[in-house]
Amino acid sequence: MIEQDQRVIKSMIIVTLAIALIGVAAFFIAQYVADTSTTARQPGTEDTRAAVQERIQPVGKVAVAGVIAKPVTAKEARSGKEIITASCGGCHHSGVAGAPKIGSKRDWEDRASAGMDALLASVVKGKGIMPPRAGGDFSDVEIVSAIKVMMTNSGL
Ligand code: HEC
Repeated sequence: MIEQDQRVIKSMIIVTLAIALIGVAAFFIAQYVADTSTTARQPGTEDTRAAVQERIQPVGKVAVAGVIAKPVTAKEARSGKEIITASCGGCHHSGVAGAPKIGSKRDWEDRASAGMDALLASVVKGKGIMPPRAGGDFSDVEIVSAIKVMMTNSGL
């Protein structure tokens, strides 16, 4: 009877120790796993995270940066002549619907006396059948260049 008890107690102690050992091992394994996935203490971890960052970055990022950088820094103003050919000349060469004609000093004299700011404002807002910004995507600088060319070619 006592012998049997001793054997039971012995095996219980062994089982308890085994469970404790498994617990301790699980603790260290968990720490190791946490270390490699969330902190940079393990050698090589930084590289791994950088590689992952690179793989999961948005595909369009580089292309978007290029698109943003170009128009802002590299968009050059078109010349007055180019703008007139592209748009203004359509009305101002022929003088359609009362448009001051390119080459007619008389048509431009009174208008020119209002000053460049006023003329630019007319084109930006639109006047008569001339739509705002003459219906194009012309910048203020481009419109002023075009007006200057029109007036120069009209003898002003
Ligand atoms: C659709 C025809 C049309 C186009 C295109 C057009 N214009 Fe005009 N423009 C007119 C007409 C018509 C007037 C006269 C409006 C009035 O006095 O009632 C005018 C007037 C002007 C005036 C005089 C404004 C004032 O205050 O007296 C300027 C300057 C001018 N245009 C510049 C331009 C420039 C620069 C462009 C091109 C970027 C352009 N126009 C394109 C029809 C046009």
